[in-house]
Amino acid sequence: MSCQLCVKNIRYLAGVKKMTDCQGAGEGAKSPMELYESLASQGDEVRALKTAKAEKAEIDAAVQLLLKLKVDYKQLTGQDYKAGSPPSETSVAPENGPATDGADDDDTVNPWNVSTNNAKGVDYDKLIVRFGSSKIDQELVDRIEKVSGQKPHRFLRRGIFFSHRDMHQVLDGYEKHKSFYLYTGRGPSSEAMHVGHLIPFIFTKWLQDVFDIPLVIQLTDDEKYLWKDLSLEDCHRFAVENAKDIIACGFDVNKTFIFSDLDYMGASPAFYRNVVKIQKHVTFNQVKGIFGFTDSDCIGKISFPAIQAAPSFSSSFPQIFKGRKDIQCLIPCAIDQDPYFRMTRDVAPRIGYHKPALLHSTFFPALQGAQTKMSASDANSSIFLTDTPKQIKNKVNKHAFSGGKDTVEEHRKYGGNPDVDVAFMYLTFFLEDDEQLEKIKQDYTSGALLTGELKKLLIETLQPMITQHQEQRKQVTEETVKQFMTPRPLNFNF
Ligand code: TRP
Repeated sequence: MSCQLCVKNIRYLAGVKKMTDCQGAGEGAKSPMELYESLASQGDEVRALKTAKAEKAEIDAAVQLLLKLKVDYKQLTGQDYKAGSPPSETSVAPENGPATDGADDDDTVNPWNVSTNNAKGVDYDKLIVRFGSSKIDQELVDRIEKVSGQKPHRFLRRGIFFSHRDMHQVLDGYEKHKSFYLYTGRGPSSEAMHVGHLIPFIFTKWLQDVFDIPLVIQLTDDEKYLWKDLSLEDCHRFAVENAKDIIACGFDVNKTFIFSDLDYMGASPAFYRNVVKIQKHVTFNQVKGIFGFTDSDCIGKISFPAIQAAPSFSSSFPQIFKGRKDIQCLIPCAIDQDPYFRMTRDVAPRIGYHKPALLHSTFFPALQGAQTKMSASDANSSIFLTDTPKQIKNKVNKHAFSGGKDTVEEHRKYGGNPDVDVAFMYLTFFLEDDEQLEKIKQDYTSGALLTGELKKLLIETLQPMITQHQEQRKQVTEETVKQFMTPRPLNFNF
């Protein structure tokens, strides 16, 4: 179950080529002890290169190999590699190892925490290597354009959705008239949603439109109850309130099923059967390795990943797929959700199902800077979907981290840095016009465009967008929500 073939290959490929997720140990797979020894010597190698002040590219390649070996080690042994403490016997962790890999770099990315010391944000290329996914390269973007017949969404054109698993396979099937379905979700931790929360939904809506396929949206009110200090009824209420914001993105009720776990788990025998199947095929050791659970986490948390995994299988929705078990699932999500789906992909073949494919997005930065994602609990870190035009203006002007210079004179002379500038980053998410965005970038870099002017452009982009969202949300009645959330057939023939 380890990636031993890859471990060998990466010696030749380090720094040159990404790894794809690999299944099954090849012949000559290494034992935990052999892998431990490779790691120890690779650590020595990195230190030697650093001491010798070797070229950055060479050091980077050696570090990448070290990280990859650490991932493989954790995958094989279920334990973190620790220099000086050789492996002990435990069972194997699934596909591509841990979510919480402190590794040698500064980025933390797991379902509960995203942070980095780098003002430009998380190093996403490194994450691809660490998680063992594949880069969404120009070739894939072109292929999506060709197969869908539509101009790629700006999130694809600009690398906001940057990583995937098995997207080529989904497109191969689609070209042969094999349909697939979309699955995404949200953890309803409060009533208040911010613009960052809309990213996966905006993109999912586009995918649904261009491919014309069913969509299921999971609201994990159970997850939020287990993780936060909230009552069950509050979590369920937040799920329904959040559903309104999701519906306001424009989803078609004839093609979309939204469900609260608290409701659907009890209402659907097929769904619960899949949850139990998954639970039987994942050990405590595996979830400890993937999610970092400890002995003092409640057992609800330990079994929750099976509930987030279950919608990846079409048999969980017999009313939509007429009992078919073989419809391929594609999951658009932020990369911090990947651990759930690494686990899902690992169990899928063992319970007779297809592995879900994935499209991963980067994080939407906090106003204060790209070191972290936005948080719903800090009013000033985010633009909320309920903010007034005036609040938007004040927040952007006051709190958006600027890559500009301290004085107008200096700014004109040296120019600003769009790579760390939050107003510019937000424009890359929301400004549709590529040429205009490129011009803004050039003008800001040269100093022709001032920080205040850049912020004004962002304010003028956000205000109408949020106002429009609020108007659409007002149209969503309790009755509409009920329709979306009722288990029923959709307008597709399977
Ligand atoms: N765990 C996710 C959150 O806390 C919610 C979620 C459930 C999800 N299923 C998903 C997100 C599928 C993306 C894709 O937000």
